[in-house]
Amino acid sequence: MTKLNIIAFDGTRFEIDAADGSTVMENAVRNSVPGIEAECGGACACATCHVYVDEAWTDAVGAPSAMEEDMLDFAVDVQPNSRLSCQIKVTPALDGLVVKVPERQG
Ligand code: FES
Repeated sequence: MTKLNIIAFDGTRFEIDAADGSTVMENAVRNSVPGIEAECGGACACATCHVYVDEAWTDAVGAPSAMEEDMLDFAVDVQPNSRLSCQIKVTPALDGLVVKVPERQG
């Protein structure tokens, strides 16, 4: 199990024990984190699972794939630390990860 911290736009912190191999999006949805819509169910085809990776974690999370980069063009208020949470796989290296949910997804 890997600990994730997902911070909703209103500041509510969700501390989640996530299964390795699952995605950050799946854990957000399962725990009813507000603001993660994930309309396409994790296929990297909607950009409504957009999150900001806390600066301390951007290296550990790594860069988006070319496909994710293209899809991020459809997200709102994209920043250098933007990622699609369905494309972040939970691994032990991400234990303690902090991501923030943007104000809106579209
Ligand atoms: Fe659709 Fe992540 S859930 S792109």
